[in-house]
Amino acid sequence: MKRDLLSLEDFSSEEIQTILRMTKKVKGTRNHSSGILSGKTIGLVFQKPSNRTRVSFEVGIAQLGGNCIYLGPEEINLGVRETTEDVAKTLTRYLDGIVARTHKHEDIVDLTKYSTIPVINGLSDLYHPCQALTDLFSIEEKLGELKGLTLAYVGDGNNVCHSLLLGCAKVGMNMQIATPKGEYSPNASVVQKALEYAKATNAKIVLTNDPNEAVNKADVIYADVWVSMGQEEESEKRLKDFQGFQINKELLKTANKNYVFMHCLPAHRGLEVAADVIDGDHSIVFDQAENRLHTQKAILIFLYERRRN
Ligand code: CP
Ligand code: NVA
Repeated sequence: MKRDLLSLEDFSSEEIQTILRMTKKVKGTRNHSSGILSGKTIGLVFQKPSNRTRVSFEVGIAQLGGNCIYLGPEEINLGVRETTEDVAKTLTRYLDGIVARTHKHEDIVDLTKYSTIPVINGLSDLYHPCQALTDLFSIEEKLGELKGLTLAYVGDGNNVCHSLLLGCAKVGMNMQIATPKGEYSPNASVVQKALEYAKATNAKIVLTNDPNEAVNKADVIYADVWVSMGQEEESEKRLKDFQGFQINKELLKTANKNYVFMHCLPAHRGLEVAADVIDGDHSIVFDQAENRLHTQKAILIFLYERRRN
């Protein structure tokens, strides 16, 4: 049976641990050789721009012996040039897998529903699961055992925040989330799912409008942009609403002494994060970016090993 990665709901806690262990092995041995994707072609259906996701998938797929076809919005304009259902039914006849970056999460759900090949979410408006798996790996690499650590997320309760919520809850990490009042809280149904997972792992989830409360005693401080791709028209309002949510040295005074600073990137120095934080000693953002490559190779091995067996 095919497996997909649409959100971290698709992987159990044990499977997440398996992927983290596999990532360590892949990174440690620079393992390019399993050839698991030999003779296979993966399509990258991207409706939005990308540096890390596109490049790390293209390089990772090549290192595992496979080929890639990049299909940007000029080629496949989901739901505009033809229906997402027809795109999925066509691509499934040519390809061995799809990595999709879409505006609407339902488009990735439809690509999955109408194809018989694995589909990996490379970011939608709701989730960014490859990012969160990379982030868990990066935290474990720097700080050791994940269970019991606290991650402070300061900013927009968006796709990245949602995947971190599910991932942290599944591995037993606490999350303290500060968003401005109003429409910026994380999606209530995602919070509900995370609370369910947290029951089994004793993870604590705190939602607040006070960045100081979120950062207090946190081991990991996490930022994302205030204006996500596709929200450009809301820029002016958002920049106003997020005043006071910048991660800077003053805010970090109450974080744990050995905190690490993380950001999925792209970043805007002087907006969501001060330059001396993202470029400072506690920042691990480029190790985190590198780890996208290793984690995604582990995800591909995980999905395609099962298909082979
Ligand atoms: N973090 C991340 O997904 O970066 P890109 O948008 O450049 O792929
Ligand atoms: N929240 C951001 C993440 C980019 C990797 C966006 O959706 O644009």
